[in-house]
Amino acid sequence: MKVLILGSGGREHAFAWKISQSPLLTELFIAPGNAGTGQLGTNVDLSPTDFPAIEAFVLETGIEMVVVGPEVPLVAGIYDYFAGNKKLKKIPLIGPSKLGAALEGSKKFANEFMVRHEIPTARYLNVTLDTYQEGVEYLNSLEPPYVLKADGLAAGKGVLILEDLQEAAQELKTMLEGKFGEASSNVVIEEFLPGIEVSVFVLTDGKSYLIFPEAKDYKRIGEGDTGLNTGGMGCVSPVPFADRVFLKKVEEKIVKPSVAGLNKDNIDYKGFLYIGIMNVLGNPYVVEYNVRMGDPEGEVVLPRIKTDLLDLFVAVGQKKLHKKSIEIDSRTVCTVMLVSGGYPGSYEKGKEITGLEKDSKSVVFHAGTKSEGGKIMTNGGRVLSITSYGEDMVQALARSYNTADQIKFEGKSCRRDIGFDL
Ligand code: AMP
Ligand code: GLY
Repeated sequence: MKVLILGSGGREHAFAWKISQSPLLTELFIAPGNAGTGQLGTNVDLSPTDFPAIEAFVLETGIEMVVVGPEVPLVAGIYDYFAGNKKLKKIPLIGPSKLGAALEGSKKFANEFMVRHEIPTARYLNVTLDTYQEGVEYLNSLEPPYVLKADGLAAGKGVLILEDLQEAAQELKTMLEGKFGEASSNVVIEEFLPGIEVSVFVLTDGKSYLIFPEAKDYKRIGEGDTGLNTGGMGCVSPVPFADRVFLKKVEEKIVKPSVAGLNKDNIDYKGFLYIGIMNVLGNPYVVEYNVRMGDPEGEVVLPRIKTDLLDLFVAVGQKKLHKKSIEIDSRTVCTVMLVSGGYPGSYEKGKEITGLEKDSKSVVFHAGTKSEGGKIMTNGGRVLSITSYGEDMVQALARSYNTADQIKFEGKSCRRDIGFDL
């Protein structure tokens, strides 16, 4: 089977790594990919949002499955583009329809979905500039801190958590007036859920589902979870506090009604549903839905799957996931992200990376890298995701940090405290 993966990060390298192990695979393409994916398949210089160009490539190459990594093409409707095209509709595409992708593309849509299907989440109010005053009154009725969410996609920056009421009211106005452009013309005000977070990954064909291993990521740039938000600085799976009892609650109260809700609402959904969950005194609440695998969550979740992922994707495409099961590696997997100096602010690209060829006990997933005249160069803020297995978190992390120390590039930085709170 010829497979095309869309995207260029560590998540896509992890997909490429996992799919490469499948006996069903004949040829792998990644668009646009990175230096790491280029070692496992053929990188194709295509943008994941250029649907006509993807169509041409898919037809001319005889691609038999498309796996979509990032959310942007999904929210823009790549699934519907394929489904609505005579020649493309036979080719399974892993990812939800545009309507399904609105679970990530619109916080308002996601909250309404959860209320409609009685899925536990924070109380909220949706506000526009016209209803600003109601928004202020709603803020007045809440206890601090105050949670403000831009309705649309804002590259992970659209959520503000503020201690001060005056500041929250002011920020609400700034957001409604275009702080995040069109994405914040609607703002969702949410009740703050105190607790500890875990992410749960569900693969669904829209009817049945399989639950993948859970993970915890570290989003802030600074140690002790301080400083600016990033795409993710490291990840751990399994997550010790997410024990059998808690995960059972997640399945019953959140996963089942979410998948049943997709069905009831006639939402075509063949892909990953990533559920951000807050554990509030032992009970799970949804803080966000994403409509894809996480990054760097994919770099710990996929290595824990023993099952042939491509075979599962084929079953998703045929809506036969109920016939499949999943086998999970009981070992702990951790990843540590090496980033460019200055990230998540401005940073330089094009620094040579050395030490990658050294023997190590890690799997190094490339995120922002590029191959240039036989050398591997940095090409993004998040550069390499150093994943290791271990009998426990301490062992897995020690292996990742050991590998991280062998790899060199100018400005290299990482968080040294991944897993500190577990
Ligand atoms: P989101 O983009 O919705 O995941 O929000 C980003 C982060 O903000 C989440 O990962 C949580 O850490 C935090 N967050 C979002 N909503 C809430 C909430 N209602 N209560 C507490 N924290 C929240
Ligand atoms: N690491 C967070 C995300 O993938 O959204």
